Amino acid sequence: MSSLDSLPTPAALIDLDRLEANCAWMSRRFSELGVALRPHVKTHKIPAIARLQVLGHDAGVTVSTLAEARAFTEAGFDDLCWALPLPPARADEALDLAGQVSLCLLVDHPRTAGLLEQAAAQAGRKVRVRLELDCGYGRTGVRASDPGSLALARQLRDSPNLDFEGLLTHAGQAYGARDIGQIGQIAALETRAAVGFSQALRASGIEVRVVSTGSTPTCRRGRDFQGVTEVRPGNYALFDLHQAAIGSCEVDEIALEVLASVIGVYEDRVVLDAGALALSKDAGASHAGLRGYGMVLDLQRRELPLELVSLSQEHGIAQGDPGDLQPGDRVRILPNHSCLVTALHPVVWGVREGRVVESWSPVRGW
Ligand SMILES: Cc1ncc(COP(=O)(O)O)c(C=O)c1O
Repeated sequence: MSSLDSLPTPAALIDLDRLEANCAWMSRRFSELGVALRPHVKTHKIPAIARLQVLGHDAGVTVSTLAEARAFTEAGFDDLCWALPLPPARADEALDLAGQVSLCLLVDHPRTAGLLEQAAAQAGRKVRVRLELDCGYGRTGVRASDPGSLALARQLRDSPNLDFEGLLTHAGQAYGARDIGQIGQIAALETRAAVGFSQALRASGIEVRVVSTGSTPTCRRGRDFQGVTEVRPGNYALFDLHQAAIGSCEVDEIALEVLASVIGVYEDRVVLDAGALALSKDAGASHAGLRGYGMVLDLQRRELPLELVSLSQEHGIAQGDPGDLQPGDRVRILPNHSCLVTALHPVVWGVREGRVVESWSPVRGW
């Protein structure tokens, strides 16, 4: 155990009490709803944190990269879903890993499906696969209204080397919501889209065992999960200012912060040693009134009258009244986007009651 004063800055800190409360809330919510929770680990890329997230559920975890899939396999996780449309060039590596662990892959194009089928046949392996559905986000996934979507589901179902489990969708458009009401509407749409398409597939004689949905805002504020078998929120473990700005969490629930040192004090601003490589340049929910690149707090977590208006690589410029701040003083910064912050830091520190009690190295690379 050591004090925060001993940490070199900038340092990413996770408050363990908040983390545990966030994980327990989501686990309890979906246990009560009878829906499996398969948390997305991209937010922290740390197996020890994922172990807290899966308590009370046995649906495995969701990963965003093969590097995460490998590291979580080594850490003892045995059921993974790689929630990115399979990059065809990575099919052989994915199939190799599928020989060591139960790994589910994602497809939204007939060409990828065909290449995966061939690669699986060559490897002599049957691999789990899900079809990604676009529920209005417009990033990836087939559209339910496209007749080719049913044909693709049939192609996946009919392949002797693929085990077609069902559908996966993600309402990332919830990040564009302005309040809880709008999140609720998007959540309802996410459920309707996924369950509706699963019914259409079943009506065509295609078995759908998995209907997987979920983002942090929709899992936190949505009400209707009827017909959904699994959800995959991830950010909720830590939360951030974007989530708070759209009504997905309270500022007090944010478990991640960046400890920074004052390196310059001027009449109208303070300069911190936390720049874009400590905080990311994610502007967050400016549509919902969020300003700047993070909220600057004192060590007692009281907001300071400073706005983090600009970041260069290693400098953070906080405009406003410097008050009593002097070079060498430390501040806490609540980030706009936790997932990007943990991905930038080589070490993340676990803190309880102001003392550093853990350190982890998030998985790196792809
Ligand atoms: C496919 C997919 N599923 C689940 C999630 C988790 O959502 P969130 O980060 O809102 O918790 C993400 C996040 O980007 C995602 O891309």
